[in-house]
Amino acid sequence: MKPNDHTWDAFSALSVADKAAALAREDGSPFHTLFSQQFDRAGLDRLCRLATVIRTLAKTRKGSDFLQSLLPHRRAMLYFTQPSSRTYLSFLTACQILGLRTGGVRDTSTSSEFKGESQEDSIRTFSSYFDMIIMRTREKGLAEKMAFALSKSERPVPIINAGSGKDQHPTQALLDIYTLQRSFERRGGLRDRTVMFVGDLARGRTVRSLSQLLLNYDNITQIFAAPDPLQIGDDILAELRAAGAAHFTTSDMRSHLPATDAVYMTRIQDEWDTKSGDSADIDTSKYKITAAEMSLCKPDTILMHPLPRRDEIATEVDSDPRAMYWRQMRNGMWIRAALIATTFSCTTRILEYYENN
Ligand code: NCD
Repeated sequence: MKPNDHTWDAFSALSVADKAAALAREDGSPFHTLFSQQFDRAGLDRLCRLATVIRTLAKTRKGSDFLQSLLPHRRAMLYFTQPSSRTYLSFLTACQILGLRTGGVRDTSTSSEFKGESQEDSIRTFSSYFDMIIMRTREKGLAEKMAFALSKSERPVPIINAGSGKDQHPTQALLDIYTLQRSFERRGGLRDRTVMFVGDLARGRTVRSLSQLLLNYDNITQIFAAPDPLQIGDDILAELRAAGAAHFTTSDMRSHLPATDAVYMTRIQDEWDTKSGDSADIDTSKYKITAAEMSLCKPDTILMHPLPRRDEIATEVDSDPRAMYWRQMRNGMWIRAALIATTFSCTTRILEYYENN
């Protein structure tokens, strides 16, 4: 079944798996990157390996020139109408690594949407000039709606979801997986581990996307530590149950630190408060990491954060070798370059060049 056989209402009622299948290429591989459920273990392993190869090649002038020769004939549009600095810059630099040219809109007040143009018409306009659209928006599901709309047009260019509402942030989940995989690769790999998510799990899209991606790895226990009003959504818990994945929720972060291999901190997402100061009334004081909490962790536990942080990780922790968030951020540039290269079918060329040089 292909999306152009359907109305949007019929398409949007499909399960995530069916939507992904309908939007995939003929060989089943992702064309758009919309949800983390599109990735399987083999695809994740290929992307992580490609990210490491690109990282290695980019270290030398010769390798970097080769990478930049891959896609100078392609253009990517960065459509970021929600605040962003690191995701925007990491996509921009990922494009530069591969020689893609970029253009962008970051503020709808400077685009024709301000004149009343529909988002569908805007996206169709972008697809006339660009070969890929990378988009971050406040609306849940907008990236898939635009992918659907483009699938009916004469230029169905790939869309990459760089964060959609409170729902999904698949490329953050990819960089988180790449970080976990690199951290554990010399210690038996990413399996038989406990990952604890902490903070605003109700509205943090990075946690939702990563929790789904972790289902591709064997024997991962997921702990969700948050005050009740900020606890992870029932939809995610239902998916973990359906997958038979070990997991539990708790309001006691501290007592689980000694048994955790990766702690994933998040900030309070108060931009989603319905009235001002809503979440300020919630006591989040027990969900912070200082040197005292790090002393409860194992010597090789890693501490992650999608950033930006507020006070949930004290700056004194930055010098702890277990603090992974700055390296995690840089990993984003490499895995996004790998994703873009894969979307434009450059994987074999890169791997062959790497083997032969
Ligand atoms: C995250 C996001 O936008 O969801 N930021 C990011 O992309 N690294 C996390 C956040 O804003 O808290």
